[in-house]
Amino acid sequence: MIKTIATTPYTDQKMGTGGLRKKTKVIMQPNYFENFIQSIFNTIGSLEGKTFVIGGDGRFYNDIAIQKLIKMAVANGAAKLIVGQNGFVSTPAGSNLMLKNHTNGGFVLSASHNPGGENADFGIKYANETGGQVPTSITDKIFQNSKSIKEYKIFEAPDIDLSVIGTQKLGNTIIEIIDPIKDYVEMMENIFDFAALKQLFKKGFTMRFDAMNAVTGPYAQRIFEEILGAPKGSVVHAKPLPDFGGLHPDPNLVYAKELVDFMYSDNAADFGCANDGDGDRNMILGKKFFVTPSDSLAILTDNYQLIPAYKNGIYGVGKSAATSTAVGRVAKAHNIGYYEVPTGWKYFVNLMDSNRITFCGEESFGTGSSHIREKDGIWAILFWLSIIAKTGKSVEEITREHWEKYGRSYYMRFDFEGISTETADDLMQNLENKLPSLSGKEFYGYTVKDAAPFVYKDPVDNSTTKNGLIVYFTDGSRIVYRLSGTGSSGATIRVYLERFSAKDLAKDPRAMLEELSKAAMDIAEIPERTGKHQADVVT
Ligand code: G1P
Ligand code: ZN
Repeated sequence: MIKTIATTPYTDQKMGTGGLRKKTKVIMQPNYFENFIQSIFNTIGSLEGKTFVIGGDGRFYNDIAIQKLIKMAVANGAAKLIVGQNGFVSTPAGSNLMLKNHTNGGFVLSASHNPGGENADFGIKYANETGGQVPTSITDKIFQNSKSIKEYKIFEAPDIDLSVIGTQKLGNTIIEIIDPIKDYVEMMENIFDFAALKQLFKKGFTMRFDAMNAVTGPYAQRIFEEILGAPKGSVVHAKPLPDFGGLHPDPNLVYAKELVDFMYSDNAADFGCANDGDGDRNMILGKKFFVTPSDSLAILTDNYQLIPAYKNGIYGVGKSAATSTAVGRVAKAHNIGYYEVPTGWKYFVNLMDSNRITFCGEESFGTGSSHIREKDGIWAILFWLSIIAKTGKSVEEITREHWEKYGRSYYMRFDFEGISTETADDLMQNLENKLPSLSGKEFYGYTVKDAAPFVYKDPVDNSTTKNGLIVYFTDGSRIVYRLSGTGSSGATIRVYLERFSAKDLAKDPRAMLEELSKAAMDIAEIPERTGKHQADVVT
């Protein structure tokens, strides 16, 4: 039976870079989740005849939220829901299901790489028929609607058993429970040369995949261990847990420390990699060697011809403004399109849909291609393994040869966390005001060439987005400043440093960027304004 429930609005349901992301307890407030979902339904109009994909990364509250979501979609008249078994779907697998089934979009319940649990974070990623997260024009409307919502609709019924694969009906809605891994594996088999990868493992190649107790563990076990023949146990932290076993499921040098320590030990595997909570991020490691995501994007792009799905050519490549310019040099050499967009995967969607780009990536451990409309952690790992299989070279050799060919962009990101929103906004405003006066000034040996906000004009819908402030120096170095859009409370200031070197290829990035980091602190007056003399997280 459809029930209409009266409700009062919350005022903070604004989606950021990765959907709506909040403290779990905020989401658990009475009607909070329901309000947000109904605001989406009210924004997109009648659900009649519409099909949606539904899943999540399995974090705490996933099981409860997913039942609410299904019953609300049913009450609002959806024709069909494709739901991942036990409520699990990784973000990339979800995007694939949306595209493959020609759906109207879907929901992945995840706060991505943020920790999970009752005292941690929860989130909702909402995608439309592109298979990618909706543009800001829509998220703005959803936010507006959420502020005046008066009621929501929910179908009254016992919880649905999500463990059994098959089709059932609730109200007038068809509910199809599927194995989300099957379709994903099929897609990967169509992109990569699985026979070559099997050969690689047959020859004794070793890897460690750290699933960080999050959603991709079962995907990785199926693909790497069962299909490709990597030794059992190559996938660690493989069982998805509601609180990710206390891990912060963000695959970087700080939070994937156990993997990093292993890969820098004398027992290291040939290849190390990790995914985040919902499986769209990746980290790549060789033996005692780390590949920055910016370099990874450049290297994958340079090697597209080694992959069956891309060997006949790629359209172009996109990167977020904060990502290093390494891939720009590759695009130039291959004479392919090159696009710089604001932070957030949704800006790549129009470029992919209009055949402007095939590959794209962000410095924040996100890499992907137009096979779906989200970044894809396992895809990036299979791509790296394919390069290794086809060239016979190690991660380190591949990366060093890349630098010899193109030069090296030394790159680091500094995050200043837990700052009050007011302090962070003031800092950015002050910096923006003084950008014009910076030209020609020198900081620790670096002379400012130019400084400006980053403004993106989408070539498809002509919308403009302003995101971050960039200071360019005469030697080609850059500092990018921006505020995080994914936090669940307070503000985080991100500072991205890049310095190009054609000849010095094997230096320590910290040493290479020491002066530039001092310049970054001074220019934005970070110590004076935040009281912080160093970053909380450096990646
Ligand atoms: C962060 C990353 C950004 C990524 C987003 C979602 O957003 O920096 O590249 O797209 O997570 O995974 P931020 O917190 O910086 O807004
Ligand atoms: Zn993620």
